[in-house]
Amino acid sequence: MLLGLQNVTFEFGARVIVEDATWHIQPGDRIGLIGYNGTGKSTLLKVLVGQYLPSKGTVEKGRSTSIGYLHQDLLSFDTNDSILEVAMGAFERVRELEKEIEALGKLLEEKEEEKLLIDYTDKLHEMDVLDGYNIQYKTEEVLHGLGFTNEQINKPYKEFSGGWRMRVLLAKMILQQPDVLLLDEPTNHLDLPSIEWLEKYLLHYQGSVVIVSHDKYFLNRMVNKIVEIYQQELHIYSGNYEYYETEKAIRIDMQQKAYENQQDYIRQQERFVERFKAKASKAAAAQSIVKRLDKIERIENVSLERPNIKINFQVDKQPGKVIVTLKDVNKQFGENIIVQGAVAEIERGDKIALIGANGKGKSTVLRIIADAETFEGERVWGHNVQSSFYAQHQLEALNLNNTILEEMSECRSGKTELELRSLLGCFLFSGDDADKKIKLLSGGEKARVALAKVIVSKSNFMMLDEPTNHLDMHSVELLAEALNKYEGSLILVSHDRFFVSQTANKIWEIIDHEIKEFKGGYTEYLEWKERMAKQAREEGRMQQAPKATVQATTAKPQDTRNKNQEKPRVDNTELKNVQKKFQKVEQELEGFKNKKEAIEAELGNPDIYKNAGKFAETEKNYKAIQTQLLQAETEYEQLFEKIMELESVA
Ligand SMILES: Nc1ncnc2c1ncn2[C@@H]1O[C@H](COP(=O)(O)OP(=O)(O)OP(=O)(O)O)[C@@H](O)[C@H]1O
Ligand SMILES: [Mg+2]
Repeated sequence: MLLGLQNVTFEFGARVIVEDATWHIQPGDRIGLIGYNGTGKSTLLKVLVGQYLPSKGTVEKGRSTSIGYLHQDLLSFDTNDSILEVAMGAFERVRELEKEIEALGKLLEEKEEEKLLIDYTDKLHEMDVLDGYNIQYKTEEVLHGLGFTNEQINKPYKEFSGGWRMRVLLAKMILQQPDVLLLDEPTNHLDLPSIEWLEKYLLHYQGSVVIVSHDKYFLNRMVNKIVEIYQQELHIYSGNYEYYETEKAIRIDMQQKAYENQQDYIRQQERFVERFKAKASKAAAAQSIVKRLDKIERIENVSLERPNIKINFQVDKQPGKVIVTLKDVNKQFGENIIVQGAVAEIERGDKIALIGANGKGKSTVLRIIADAETFEGERVWGHNVQSSFYAQHQLEALNLNNTILEEMSECRSGKTELELRSLLGCFLFSGDDADKKIKLLSGGEKARVALAKVIVSKSNFMMLDEPTNHLDMHSVELLAEALNKYEGSLILVSHDRFFVSQTANKIWEIIDHEIKEFKGGYTEYLEWKERMAKQAREEGRMQQAPKATVQATTAKPQDTRNKNQEKPRVDNTELKNVQKKFQKVEQELEGFKNKKEAIEAELGNPDIYKNAGKFAETEKNYKAIQTQLLQAETEYEQLFEKIMELESVA
């Protein structure tokens, strides 16, 4: 065994986190540590590394077991060293050796002593054994995997934001290759590609891994064991998350049946006692049954306990039809262009998910909209828009020394203390909890405070950057439901695929420094992508066959002339057809619009109301033209999308 708990009880004052918990971490284990927010996962890791001492039981650790531990809170570590330097700190011994070898080499140049020479070759040998000549390469590989560019890894550590610093420390830790890696919600600060990279890396990791995570997909692929903290006990399941889900359902079912059986049995026995306790001949028997019943270990009723946060976003007043417009927006960090000439509009009712790989600037675009970032170009707000912004590292913006209630009062929402307390109750902070200091809260509890702050504002437009970070899966579902019911508009960034598919009715993606909009939900978006990719593959095949001998293997996308020639003819005719139709509909639309305006003018003439027959007819015409107009508009939009689709493939 590498590390483990033996009959451990741990509590914060009166609050029991675990009772009599036993858990052994074996070599080769890849364990997902799960549980609802605030059940004590982070605490348990701290017990394992010895930061907290259990009140009962022991923490057992193999004599040579090395442990790497990644906190949930970002570390305050700071330095001028480059990212690469910091991460290469993982190879302490190799760095030492490098220096020693260099020094010895110099000495040897001066005098060729036998002893020095032996020392020198010994060190060279050790260097070889440690694979010391590859450390830079290995470090770069890991850093790239976690999303750093070549240029970034040579920049000073202190220039990076919290999330990126955490990645550096994560890189350093996995390079150290400890026997046991304890990772507390590492995916919170990663985007999809990095999460996928981490998944693959950890799958081949030599040591054992314990990972706290609320990400179902990640757990399913990553772990071969699940440890759940539930009702102050550790429940161990030997399988991935899916296995846990089915197995837990079975266990609960079985326990429920056992409970019911036992209850039946107890009732039956009690009836017996009731009936015969007065009868002298049976009194002794009744007595012994009573004794037996007292001794029975009672099975608990297992109605599933779940923390149900109650989120209800409210809107104070309705905004205009357009929420915000971006015109010709440019933004770059040094050489790194984020957007160039970007144009976009958010309309009332839009629920937009902004997606795309890391570094494309999702958070930056969100911050531009939220006025939290400088940029060139224009941003125009619609009427009556009241916005609120949930920034990516919102939790870090909480004042750790405030109590929860103080933090809420600082929002100036005009709510009384009583109202605030009742709102906090919806977020599961009941009674005294509201007076708890923020610094004592778990990650998920902090996230709930930050969400409560957004809700108190009653805004009609929300910008949410990774709102599901730290939330347990059940709370994520409840948040998705609440956002669905929300009457306002929103734009959000999230790497939680489930969450995005549940909330968005439009998808924005940053491609080639522009904001591209897809009118539809995430599932439709994926289908559309798939179709596009298939079409492109088919066309690729059609192009390749005849050209193979003439063309070099590398395609040149910038050579548009060449590309046009290669456009398959079939597609071209379809595009032309659609374009023709589009023009026709456009003309119709124009006609309808003119007609509608004419009728409107008629309706505006007071004379018309004098003639009831004429008025009724005009009104009928007006309704008819409105319907026609709407139909034409829909067709117009559809054709336009079709053209975009065909053109983007061509
Ligand atoms: N130093 C402390 N003193 C008192 N209570 C604490 C302290 N640290 C944590 N707690 C409380 O103990 C409980 C468990 O906290 P912990 O951080 O371990 O939860 P967690 O399971 O990691 O939750 P999350 O999923 O939100 O990260 C929480 O209710 C938290 O408020
Ligand atoms: Mg935690």
